[in-house]
Amino acid sequence: MFRRKSPDQVVPEGSHGEGLKRSLSAFDLTMLGIGAIIGAGLFSSIKEMITGRVLADGSLFVGAGPGVILSFAITAMACGFAAFCYAEIASMYPVSGSAYSYSYVAFGEVIAWMIGWDLMVEYAIGNVYVAASWSDYFTNFLRGISNGAIHVPEWLGMDFQSATMKVKAATDMLAAGTASAADLASAKETLAAFADAPRIGHWVFSVDLPAALITLLLTVLLFVGVKESARLNTFMVILKVGLVVAFIAIGFGHIDTNNWTPLMPNGFTGVWHGAALGFFSYIGFDAVSTAGEEAKNPQRDLPRGMIWSLIICTVLYILTAAVLTGVVNWKQLEGNDPLAEAFEKIGMHGASTAMAFGAVIAMAAVLLVFQLGQTRIFYVMARDGLLPKVFSSVHPKYQTPHVNTWLVGIVVAILCSVLTPDQAIGLTNIGTLFAFVLVALGVIALRIREPHRPRPFKVPGYPVTPILAALACLALIFGLEASNWWRFVVWLGIGLVFYFFYGYRKSKLAS
Ligand code: ALA
Repeated sequence: MFRRKSPDQVVPEGSHGEGLKRSLSAFDLTMLGIGAIIGAGLFSSIKEMITGRVLADGSLFVGAGPGVILSFAITAMACGFAAFCYAEIASMYPVSGSAYSYSYVAFGEVIAWMIGWDLMVEYAIGNVYVAASWSDYFTNFLRGISNGAIHVPEWLGMDFQSATMKVKAATDMLAAGTASAADLASAKETLAAFADAPRIGHWVFSVDLPAALITLLLTVLLFVGVKESARLNTFMVILKVGLVVAFIAIGFGHIDTNNWTPLMPNGFTGVWHGAALGFFSYIGFDAVSTAGEEAKNPQRDLPRGMIWSLIICTVLYILTAAVLTGVVNWKQLEGNDPLAEAFEKIGMHGASTAMAFGAVIAMAAVLLVFQLGQTRIFYVMARDGLLPKVFSSVHPKYQTPHVNTWLVGIVVAILCSVLTPDQAIGLTNIGTLFAFVLVALGVIALRIREPHRPRPFKVPGYPVTPILAALACLALIFGLEASNWWRFVVWLGIGLVFYFFYGYRKSKLAS
């Protein structure tokens, strides 16, 4: 269980690439990072960071208010420490598979397996949240440009759990009849919207069709080739960064500084909750490390790609948070499209549709990079014998791991109709934070086990930095709602069962 790969077993495989094409430059990698970072976090979940949310038991998970500016700064620090740790190990072992491959060397097989299993949560489940947000913005955008003519029925744009809960709440409200007239009218509207939806018992058979379609479309692209995908990614990144900069520049002149007081209406608890949720907005810089075998000069460029993309996004996030909470009073934020809402407030109605378009592009880029990351992790795990060999087969013409590319695409497309966005974002955050903790500890373990191995990039402030990275990520885990913890533990448990029945016996290292 604790058999470890020697560093030389990892690197030669990686440096010869076993069939993956080396085509990505430092610029491509930075773009890949920004492509993965700016997405549903900034365009959707920032609203819940600010306002909080109501939990299943009816209590409030309080938000940060204008203190969201601090939340972003705190999370950026935690991610910065973690990025240094990733950069050190990625420069030592520039292989596909990211934290999974590193922990194979640092800690041994069973931990590596758990990390690989855990990274599935980060990439595949993360994509479920992003695809669901994409679907919301896309349907709003369609409605906006067609003046309401194109309307996707609710039960074709939502996961079945959310649809069932919505219908049940509306039915209960009408049965009780005690709500206000406006609420009763809205409950009737909800039931009318779901009137055509097929049902199985009390379950409403609702599917998120746009989310599934975008996932499958990007799967085709990844099947065809990574360089082509990187080109499209660069285009999407330029467009989304342009839009965020436009938001900051236009909004800047409309800031009312009174909206920033009090800065922390819910005290530090709100800021902390905001930081834990906001972690999702930063996930992605680590995805750069999954492309290690496709980088032209990985030792030099992987650290650059990760650190630059993180710096650029931190600046954009803090400025966006300041402008958003300066333009609109945080208590007045209502919809799930806060940036568009801010433009509405300053009378720029057309800009709202433009923001929806920007969000659609931004999130498509995130989906692309995450899907890429997930398939490359599968690829390496299968190459090591921990997953069936078919997942590491490379397409003869396109040189991409085609079987797992399709598998991941289809599974994510289906999960978009199964998990609620809240479940998806919580699970993604906890899974990723857990991986970051192990990467930080991995830096320390490798400095002890492999003191002489060349490190083209070294963590500054060792050993304080990796210790701070691990502590900060643990603290953010405790900022999340407790329901996420047990879901994650169940997921890891299922993974261990798989490992003992398959990977443990078939592992290449064992033979
Ligand atoms: N950071 C990515 C996003 O916000 C996951 O969409």
